Amino acid sequence: MSAIASSRKSTSHPTSKQATLNNAIRQNTVDEPLAQPSDLARRLAAVLVVVVLALVVAFVGTNLYRLSDPYVREVLALTSNPERGEAIFQINCAGCHGRGADGNVGPSLHNLSQRKSEFDIIHQVTSGKTPPMPEFQPTSQEMADLLGYLETL
Ligand code: HEC
Repeated sequence: MSAIASSRKSTSHPTSKQATLNNAIRQNTVDEPLAQPSDLARRLAAVLVVVVLALVVAFVGTNLYRLSDPYVREVLALTSNPERGEAIFQINCAGCHGRGADGNVGPSLHNLSQRKSEFDIIHQVTSGKTPPMPEFQPTSQEMADLLGYLETL
């Protein structure tokens, strides 16, 4: 504001060399703010890089943490038998999820693997954190078989 006001004042004496000089100096200082947006962009870019890096570290970290659970690692390493998995399902799960896993008290489990990771499914079955679904303690082979069956739905 003051720069604009005083630059107007100086143009009212265009004959004075000093005024022209002053004007040039002022214009320099008026030009300076133009450098700021790119400065801001650089800072925003730096913040963005930090945020992206933090997200990558968090993502890799959670996955490493999940895989550090020996039970999960064991289940995922085993070869599953979906037919045995279906038998286990009929005994333990069909009462709530329906004989064809198409939903009853519990939701339909069709296309489950499209919305839940294997880790999430293992967690759902073994955690008991979503009542009324009970906490199951299948052996790692039983869990692998169940996963194999659920993935066929
Ligand atoms: C007593 C009833 C009951 C039994 C038995 C049961 N569930 Fe569930 N299940 C539920 C309910 C209710 C939910 C929804 C819970 C929620 O998300 O809050 C659920 C949710 C789930 C989900 C998540 C579905 C989704 O769309 O996110 C999976 C996977 C699952 N059950 C698998 C099983 C398996 C495998 C068994 C057998 C080992 C089983 N359930 C036995 C009631 C049951």
